[in-house]
Amino acid sequence: MILPIYTYGTAVLRKVAEPISKDYPGLSELIQNMFETMYYADGVGLAAPQIGLPIRLLVIDLVPFKDEDPELGSFKIAMINPQMLEFSENKVSGEEGCLSIPGIHETVMRSQKIRIQYWDENFEEHTEEFEGYKARVVQHEYDHLEGNLFTDRVSPIRRQLLKSKLTNIVKGKTATQYKVKTA
Ligand code: NI
Repeated sequence: MILPIYTYGTAVLRKVAEPISKDYPGLSELIQNMFETMYYADGVGLAAPQIGLPIRLLVIDLVPFKDEDPELGSFKIAMINPQMLEFSENKVSGEEGCLSIPGIHETVMRSQKIRIQYWDENFEEHTEEFEGYKARVVQHEYDHLEGNLFTDRVSPIRRQLLKSKLTNIVKGKTATQYKVKTA
């Protein structure tokens, strides 16, 4: 089922999301719906707050990159209750966008490498290191669980320039091909 995506200005995007337990009702269906919603909106990552649920769950699928980089292209993952263990001091810049902030793309600095603990859809625990673009996407989605958005991480000057665009999103003046839930 394709769900509406909550956009910039909705309160749920600013909440610190809560951990969930193994018996969270309808968890596997929820994960499936999140992948479906993300694919429909042409995204590569989606966090539960973006569909209105303040819980610690995120999905990522980098399949759009499979032609340019098969290793990236095969990266498909659902993370439950992720906990960031380490951010590398070495930071790299890269462009980001967000399904909750349509029409805005900005350069953001992120750690080149991270170490993260999470539980998969079968509630098996993993601790893994990711680098490069994978690390970037994981950090972006993890930010959603902390109530942070990538636009918080751009320079003050850029943020000033984005102000009117963000206000338009809050007012619901956005054109997306996917269904949204505005503030
Ligand atoms: Ni996002």
